[in-house]
Amino acid sequence: METTTLEPPAINRLGSSVADCLEVRPMRPPEITGRLQREVLELKKKRNAVILAHNYQTPEIQDVADFVGDSLGLSYQASKTFADVILFCGVHFMAETAKIVNPTKKVLIPDINAGCSLADSCDADEVAEYRAKHPDTYIIAYINCTARVKALTDIVCTSGNAVRVVEQAPKDRPILFLPDENLGQWVMEKTHRPMELWHGACHTHLVFTSETLQRLRLQHPDAPVVAHPECVRSVRLLADHVCSTEGMVKFCRENPSKTIIVVTESGMLHRLRKEVPGKTFIPGPSKSCACNDCGFMKMNTLEKVHHALETLTPEVMVEEEIRKRALLPIQRMLEIR
Ligand code: 13P
Repeated sequence: METTTLEPPAINRLGSSVADCLEVRPMRPPEITGRLQREVLELKKKRNAVILAHNYQTPEIQDVADFVGDSLGLSYQASKTFADVILFCGVHFMAETAKIVNPTKKVLIPDINAGCSLADSCDADEVAEYRAKHPDTYIIAYINCTARVKALTDIVCTSGNAVRVVEQAPKDRPILFLPDENLGQWVMEKTHRPMELWHGACHTHLVFTSETLQRLRLQHPDAPVVAHPECVRSVRLLADHVCSTEGMVKFCRENPSKTIIVVTESGMLHRLRKEVPGKTFIPGPSKSCACNDCGFMKMNTLEKVHHALETLTPEVMVEEEIRKRALLPIQRMLEIR
């Protein structure tokens, strides 16, 4: 029997340039990528669809999207679209949020199994139990949780508005912030508002450590560091600025430095290179790679985007009773500016 030995890729090793990682990722001839992208744009028109893509999607998906942004920007876009079909290129809770605000529209996701470690860390039954025991507590849900969990909470937030949401929380009620402990800690530091924190974390941001970042800072002493608040505190302390992925675009545009270290998922680099030309963006490294991908986000591929628009599957559904209850905390968030 013929066997094939799979060599570990020469890319994705610490020391390789991330330009290599991102450029090699599609693993298909560029002319096929171009054809797939053209067909996706034609299908999009035929289906009267809008493509919303999170900043962590692959460059080739970002390039066919109508809107690329952070969780907050995408929520606004989803709430105001006139399209019949929303193809949400992100992870499941994001597409689910789009469905909650658009019950009559078809909401598709390229890969229905694109989950989230934060959403997995927060079980709806446990939140229901907490709610029953603490009826007076104001529960703030980071958008990275399931519709079932959102339905049990008072207000939703994203990393882009978490500080504002907590600042506007009723002063006379205790707060539970779920499910991201690191984001919750950061918001407490910024607002000085005590909160009980759920013990969840984003596995993608946990791989950035102060050791790997310090090494990189020594190599680029003049480069400022911008980090996502889902990073652990020791990493956030090494950053010059902590913000959502949308905030990173603003920071990189306004900061005069020519080289900037960006500590978040590697998909972010494509958007920065496109929208802030002339600067060098260095990704935060993990222990084994010069950059870091979210395995769930990268389950979406251009082929799956094509397939979703062709077949109008897989569709994201939310039970109506849950949807109605989850809508309220999302609407409260969307009203906060
Ligand atoms: P934002 O989209 O709020 O920047 O958060 C990124 C993220 O980690 C999504 O899970």
